[in-house]
Amino acid sequence: MSEVILELDGLRTYFYTDIGIAKSVDGVSYNIRTGETLGVVGESGCGKSVTALSIMGLIPQPPGKIVEGSIKLGGLELTTLEPDQLRSIRGKRISMIFQEPLTSLNPVYTAGAQIIEALAVHEPNIDPSEARRRAIDMLRKVGIPSPEKRVDEYPHQMSGGMLQRVMIAMSLICGPDLLIADEPTTALDVTIQAQILDLLRRMQEDLGMSILLITHDLGVVAETCDRVVVMYAGKVAEQTDVHRLFERPAHPYTVALFQSLPDVSVAADRLPTIPGMVPSAYEFPSGCRFRDRCAYANEACLSEPPLVEIESGHQVACHHIDRVRADHAGGANG
Ligand SMILES: Nc1ncnc2c1ncn2[C@@H]1O[C@H](COP(=O)(O)OP(=O)(O)OP(=O)(O)O)[C@@H](O)[C@H]1O
Ligand SMILES: [Mg+2]
Repeated sequence: MSEVILELDGLRTYFYTDIGIAKSVDGVSYNIRTGETLGVVGESGCGKSVTALSIMGLIPQPPGKIVEGSIKLGGLELTTLEPDQLRSIRGKRISMIFQEPLTSLNPVYTAGAQIIEALAVHEPNIDPSEARRRAIDMLRKVGIPSPEKRVDEYPHQMSGGMLQRVMIAMSLICGPDLLIADEPTTALDVTIQAQILDLLRRMQEDLGMSILLITHDLGVVAETCDRVVVMYAGKVAEQTDVHRLFERPAHPYTVALFQSLPDVSVAADRLPTIPGMVPSAYEFPSGCRFRDRCAYANEACLSEPPLVEIESGHQVACHHIDRVRADHAGGANG
């Protein structure tokens, strides 16, 4: 499982707007290995979705632009491809599912028509009855009951969980190497969430694909991911395998994320928060971007900490790694 399907190297994606330049993704490097699930976590506005849209070639330009860095899919550089070359990769080799299925499904077409369209983009000569058969087959695989009937239904006739399954069917119909799932279960209730995550896991085994899973939910990460990237203010703060992240976190931001999890003994409806706010992408502070909120901050943090490998497969960008690890040797709450 050590082969790499996707490599991000020094990616910078900026938005040039009336109120200034948003440096939404500002030097991000990480890899996704073949067959693994890589989780990306971090508070709202950290650049998780902009990274995903950059990989998909879906950054609206203008105002957005990939200004630096490289995105390689199986060795193929994506940032310099022509739009039609990117279109032939999107859907077929990389596909994406979004938080809100209704925003990505067209209300005036049936579920079947939309799955068939996704298929026909990459197999324009496919026989219509064969396409329909494959759409029904895929609906069955994603757990939709009576797929022969459902195939002719419109989005408004389906529940949120069903719609998310249709989205997944659409994104998997061409057998992509990489599926990007951006908060795929946030809009769903807990039971359906678990079913959808289970479905993704099964489809991953069936198809041998890699998954990039963006989520706010550390519980989902613990259950679903092999490795995790923690993003903060457009950069990678820490990345390692899921066990080490939970047991031996080395970045104060990772520790704060864990500590902000609602305590089971406290009212569960309290949203987890870390004191202070993520700095605006329009004006990141110099030095470490987390320093205003960090218990370890001192004058060293006025210079930007590089992302360094502290042990094989574990990278951290912080000036105080040894102190953080000593304080949290038994996990974030230890
Ligand atoms: N089209 C755009 N124009 C201008 N700024 C944008 C645009 N899209 C994203 N941004 C900015 O880029 C930054 C990162 O946004 P992004 O959507 O990647 O955050 P995120 O980590 O996915 O957050 P969330 O968890 O809320 O989904 C934000 O400050 C956002 O305002
Ligand atoms: Mg997002």
